[in-house]
Amino acid sequence: MSKRIRKAVFPVAGLGTRFLPATKAVPKEMLTVVDRPVLQHVVDEAREAGIEHFIFVTGRNKGVIEDHFDIAYELEDTLKKRGKIKEYDALIADLPPAGAASFTRQQAPLGLGHAVWCAREIVGDEPFAVLLPDMVTLGNGPKKSRCLAQAVEAYEAHGGNVIAVEEVPPEETHQYGIVSVGKDFGAAFEITGMVEKPPRGTAPSNLMISGRYILQPEIFDILAKGEKGAGGEIQLTDSMVTLSGSQAFHGVRFDGKTYDTGSKLGFLAANLAFGLTRPDIADGLKAEIAKLLG
Ligand code: UTP
Repeated sequence: MSKRIRKAVFPVAGLGTRFLPATKAVPKEMLTVVDRPVLQHVVDEAREAGIEHFIFVTGRNKGVIEDHFDIAYELEDTLKKRGKIKEYDALIADLPPAGAASFTRQQAPLGLGHAVWCAREIVGDEPFAVLLPDMVTLGNGPKKSRCLAQAVEAYEAHGGNVIAVEEVPPEETHQYGIVSVGKDFGAAFEITGMVEKPPRGTAPSNLMISGRYILQPEIFDILAKGEKGAGGEIQLTDSMVTLSGSQAFHGVRFDGKTYDTGSKLGFLAANLAFGLTRPDIADGLKAEIAKLLG
């Protein structure tokens, strides 16, 4: 039986240059989708998938992330004194249990692969999840389970390493990591190759790597070599390609939709999509959209 996935890594040390000037003083992971920071949505998704330990790889200017996942004594005390118990309970419910969040720092933004490698001591010798904290997901189907829960299900069925994928229009494949599809098991399939940002017209499929991974700890030995790839960065995809030479990789087609809140359009779309799932504002939001569209 496969080892259970208990720990998740959230690499939050990127610079967020696509979203300047908003991200000059505020980390992009703290921008809000409706009324929750993007990163809180991603932590919610990890909790839903059974994650017990949350590992944040932060960088300079990201201290507010640590504060967000800590108690806010004055605020909580004021809420209680004013009888705002619902708001107080909601804040407490969002907190990871004591000792269940770890923070480590990536001293220079050398790439996603390097950020994941910075978590090696805290992860230790067990399989773990990686969630890109600027990607938020909404699940379809009766359970509406989000992407990591579906990846964990595929991992429990097939083992090895698991990468969540999603279809993109063929003309957009050059912007993403793309996988090649081998033996198909239905929702999951064998991955026979991966390529980061393939030149136009050369992509092996239209399935993009969408930002949720389950990886075996041997990935750290490969990342330790620090080899640079596309854009001069230490890429996670390159290390996964090397690991796939000795271990199985499975793709899981996410039944749902992923929004890239690190891009302006993705951020706006996420706010609309999440807003439309909220009973307290959905009707009002629909009316506003109808007015804007004339
Ligand atoms: P991105 O390339 O989307 O993030 O990396 P970025 O570098 O912050 O954004 P732009 O392109 O400049 O706007 C994907 C994820 O990997 C993290 C980022 O925080 C983001 O969540 N990352 C990236 C790191 O933690 N460290 C890095 O060195 C690079």
